[in-house]
Amino acid sequence: MVLPSSKIKLKFGFDSLRFPEKPGLLKTLIYLTMLKLEFLFSDKEKAFGPFYQPLNKVSLFSWKIFSDFNPHHYGDWISSLKGSGLETFEADVVKKMIWLYKGSDEKITGMLTSGATEGNIFSCCLGKEFLLQIGVKKSYLFATSLTHQSVKKASRLTDIPLIDIPLNKDFGISSYHLGRQLKKIYKNESVGILICLTLGYKKTGTSDKVEEVVDVVNKASKLYPKMKFFLWIDGALEGLITPFISKNFKPFKSSYIKTFVVDFHKLAHVPYPSSLILFRKNLIKKNSPLENGLFESRTGLAAISFWSLINALGKEGFKQQILKCQLLRSEFLSKVEKYFNKDDILNSEYGITTTLILEARTTEKIKEMEKDFPVRLHQDFLNIEGKKKNFRLLKIYFLPTLNRNKLDSFLESLRTHLK
Ligand SMILES: Cc1ncc(COP(=O)(O)O)c(C=O)c1O
Repeated sequence: MVLPSSKIKLKFGFDSLRFPEKPGLLKTLIYLTMLKLEFLFSDKEKAFGPFYQPLNKVSLFSWKIFSDFNPHHYGDWISSLKGSGLETFEADVVKKMIWLYKGSDEKITGMLTSGATEGNIFSCCLGKEFLLQIGVKKSYLFATSLTHQSVKKASRLTDIPLIDIPLNKDFGISSYHLGRQLKKIYKNESVGILICLTLGYKKTGTSDKVEEVVDVVNKASKLYPKMKFFLWIDGALEGLITPFISKNFKPFKSSYIKTFVVDFHKLAHVPYPSSLILFRKNLIKKNSPLENGLFESRTGLAAISFWSLINALGKEGFKQQILKCQLLRSEFLSKVEKYFNKDDILNSEYGITTTLILEARTTEKIKEMEKDFPVRLHQDFLNIEGKKKNFRLLKIYFLPTLNRNKLDSFLESLRTHLK
């Protein structure tokens, strides 16, 4: 989209290539004001795309107030809790989230990060360190063909080979294949297994069954005594949905689960970058290079902003928002079910997305829907029960800004595109 202010940018003489020779404060301020006015009065979805979601007013308010002071964390609040006093917001958020996940703050701690990507990479680093400390020199990282690519990055960065465990028919990690792979790897010598489990895969919204996997791991530890495990959960989106809908959500219930990653900037409408990693305290030894997290300096604004949101909404506020999204999802499903086989509709139990498998259908036209609706078309080879198959997946997000009118026009558009 070409904004009128882009033309003004040229008229004002802003050069897009060269570093300016002279100061230009006034023209910069005038230009920024014009740009702001333009966005203020524009159709936000047209300008920023159908995934545009307004920030929560309270979180934005706190972000704006405190950005004047540029609060930061050097990653050392865990030991110091000193400074301007703003660091305590991070400690407070971490404690509240541990409580939400029914964990114990004697055993678990955490820190705010820039995103689930950082959380996944940090988890993998913690896993490598943990396994090295208990004398394990050779490790493997297990993931599925749906696992977020940040985990693949983590495998490269930590130099831990990635092993693809097939998915089951519900598009979650297959316990059967996991068990088989563990058996195959074990050679009666020390070996480390890192497993990244996902709640709400990016391409399908489906989730791994954590308890089922923990059962397999439990049995394997008995059968293969020199095999050591480090599991973590990537709950980027669903980690901030499930605890408000399910009464029994306890991601740290099993001691095999060492870290938990969740984003605040996805659904919670706090500004980017704003994410959280919780981890077991005993993973980081004093003076370890990992003590301050992956990044040394980072903004303190995310903590204040999310702290404000938590207090403004409470559990009830989060729950109401999610239920509204899920209600629209149910309406959508009741209307779309007649066009699709049951097996071609993927729903996560607690999520706010639905994914349609478009295997044999035309997808070129469907791709165009991405311009107008919060949907994503993914085309990918997935390993289901050991067989690689090309899938076309249309993931539909039932975001809080969705209303019945928009849903109806989406359904209409889907019907015409599927004809
Ligand atoms: C399951 C999952 N993990 C990790 C990420 C990466 O999150 P971020 O963009 O916050 O780094 C995403 C992003 O969509 C995701 O869906």
